Amino acid sequence: MHKSHFGIIGLGVMGRSLAKNIAGNSYPLSVYNRITPSEKEVIPTFMKEVTSKSVQGFTDLSSFVDSLASPRRVLLMVNAGTAVDHVLENLIPLLAPGDIIIDGGNSHYQDTQRRVSFLQDKQLHFIGAGISGGEEGALKGPSMMIGGDSEAYSHVQPIFEAMAAKDVKGKPCVTLIGTDGSGHFVKTVHNGIEYAEMQLLAECYALLVPSYSYPEIAAIFKEWNKGTLQSYLLEITADILIKKEGDDYLIDKVLDKAGSKGTGSWTSQTAFQLGIPTPTINAAVLARYMSSFHKERSTWSSKVSKTMKSEDTINLEDLKTTYTFARIINHHQGFQLIKEAAKENNWEIDLSELARIWTSGCIIKSKFMESLVQTFKNSESILEDFDHFNSLVSSEKSIVSILKYALSNRTSIASISNSYDYFISLTTARSSAHIIQAQRDEFGAHTYKRIDRPIDQSFTTKWTSNG
Ligand code: 6PG
Repeated sequence: MHKSHFGIIGLGVMGRSLAKNIAGNSYPLSVYNRITPSEKEVIPTFMKEVTSKSVQGFTDLSSFVDSLASPRRVLLMVNAGTAVDHVLENLIPLLAPGDIIIDGGNSHYQDTQRRVSFLQDKQLHFIGAGISGGEEGALKGPSMMIGGDSEAYSHVQPIFEAMAAKDVKGKPCVTLIGTDGSGHFVKTVHNGIEYAEMQLLAECYALLVPSYSYPEIAAIFKEWNKGTLQSYLLEITADILIKKEGDDYLIDKVLDKAGSKGTGSWTSQTAFQLGIPTPTINAAVLARYMSSFHKERSTWSSKVSKTMKSEDTINLEDLKTTYTFARIINHHQGFQLIKEAAKENNWEIDLSELARIWTSGCIIKSKFMESLVQTFKNSESILEDFDHFNSLVSSEKSIVSILKYALSNRTSIASISNSYDYFISLTTARSSAHIIQAQRDEFGAHTYKRIDRPIDQSFTTKWTSNG
């Protein structure tokens, strides 16, 4: 039997689709899945589904490894966390120096950093690959964010480039982001931006739904989607709203409790650790947590006054402007976080190239992302771009009107309001933080700086005794 060029461990939804993608690109491929009572049919079923003669299926790990050409390239598509370490434990003794393991799950970047150094000692390469696009993207072309050493990447680059989605110029949406955990880190922030993009759409829906039917809201979203606001998430949200089950809209039957697997909160956690404000993303994470208090919400909603409902109708142009504004702020926060984390971890991340591989194949692909490819060629940050900054400034009146509307209708729009608050804070020369400094100094003698003295001098005062 011929040796395979590539191996995949784990044929869950993503693993299966990636395997079909690779087989469709005519690369000889080996796939492995463990046999447990619930998974014993995985390999036989998959082998029936793929007609390609270049695919070999295994339920024995060592035969799977033996079927691979050297250096062996093995993609792990197992659940992030301990499952990855468990597979590594069984796999490592079967591999030889120079072999390459790729983790294609949504792993925490610090786990990836730990695994890279652990495997380095064994002369094995470890690549952390962020893969976005869901099941369809995996099958037809995902966006791939690679973290690892360039030698290992050179061995997988041709196959990854064949698998990946293509951008508007036909270039593959895969790139070497940087070393060790950088690929998984940017995938995490991708998901943080994804959480906020989803939340912003949910908030627009919440503002529209008292005044418009589902088909009308879908039509508004479709109209937005024709211009610069075009995005994959906007497109699917319009479609979701008009999906029927019999005579009813299916969305009315969906429980309003949002799930999450961790990457959104990892984005916020890292932002907190690095001291980088990402309030639009944080609000989206928290909104999912708030949604899970379903019982409390049901109980307490009957006890609050419904009389606040305003008679005003929502202004659609103001809403469109507000949504545009919040999306710019969301992306700005995500890219700022990546920039700062890159400094901290000695990663040299090209933000323009990152935006480019996010223009196709991934969940946050959009016209705006396409424009960011150029933005990051000229500017260090989105807000440093003159046009973007001016568009934020000229949106303020519309946002204030939407915020007033939301408050007078008791509509929670935390990601939108946090986006505006972020902009106000960033554009306020003298904040209220001197009050905080004085409070800290009063109760803990933490000292403070004075605006009328050199910055390297510190002062302390007994603030509450007036002589
Ligand atoms: C992607 C998605 C994908 C997955 C997220 C969703 O880029 O393809 O981000 O990775 O949908 O894990 O995560 P939650 O379950 O936390 O929403």
